[in-house]
Amino acid sequence: MRLDRFISSQRTDLSRSDVKALVKKGLVTVDGSKAKRADMQIDENTASVAVGGEEIAYRQFLYLMLNKPQGVVCSTKEGACPTVIDIIPEEYRRPGLFPAGRLDKDTEGFVLLTDDGQLAHKMLSPRSHVPKTYFVRLEHPWQPSYKDEFERGMTIDGGEKCLPAEFAPLENENECELILHEGKFHQVKRMFEALGNKVVYLKRTKIGSLPLDEKLPLGGVLEIMHKDVERLHTH
Ligand code: URA
Repeated sequence: MRLDRFISSQRTDLSRSDVKALVKKGLVTVDGSKAKRADMQIDENTASVAVGGEEIAYRQFLYLMLNKPQGVVCSTKEGACPTVIDIIPEEYRRPGLFPAGRLDKDTEGFVLLTDDGQLAHKMLSPRSHVPKTYFVRLEHPWQPSYKDEFERGMTIDGGEKCLPAEFAPLENENECELILHEGKFHQVKRMFEALGNKVVYLKRTKIGSLPLDEKLPLGGVLEIMHKDVERLHTH
């Protein structure tokens, strides 16, 4: 990995250009020697890197925010469609990286990719109830009664009981926001179907209290830094 990328991925207060300036000033060392170039390659698993004499502890796991486009599947297996792993830049691919939570092929938005099995397990556990926020466009206008129906906990497909969900109508009468605290198969679509409506566009905009970066284009990837990882499983 490049030295500047390594440092700025571990120290969220330092951008790559900050690192470049620090290297120029001779304040960065690799294995005890002054680094000559910010773009030098290091082995992030073994190198001892220090900035201003302060050693950087290597962060073991990778957490990526992907803005998933339509037509891409949340699986790691090869198939007819590209997977979320296929579309991320080469530099982020590593063994064990997988999507912690799925979106349908035609759903856009925030997918967390990580190799931190423990965090993924915590988030995917049926007991976790991490809130997931969706922007929804409907075929027919929403009805004021939806709010109560969602808050009461809806029953879908003849018996499957859903946890209470938070419904927020948007100004456009065909658009709304929905917050779920679980992740059943096609849940958002099935909930609106139970109300006699139909989802025509769906995008996940937030996981826990961490919103999808508005500047991230479809197909774009951002590394989630330490201070924000916690927000993935907080309310
Ligand atoms: N609910 C759905 O119906 N689809 C998704 O992709 C996510 C939630």
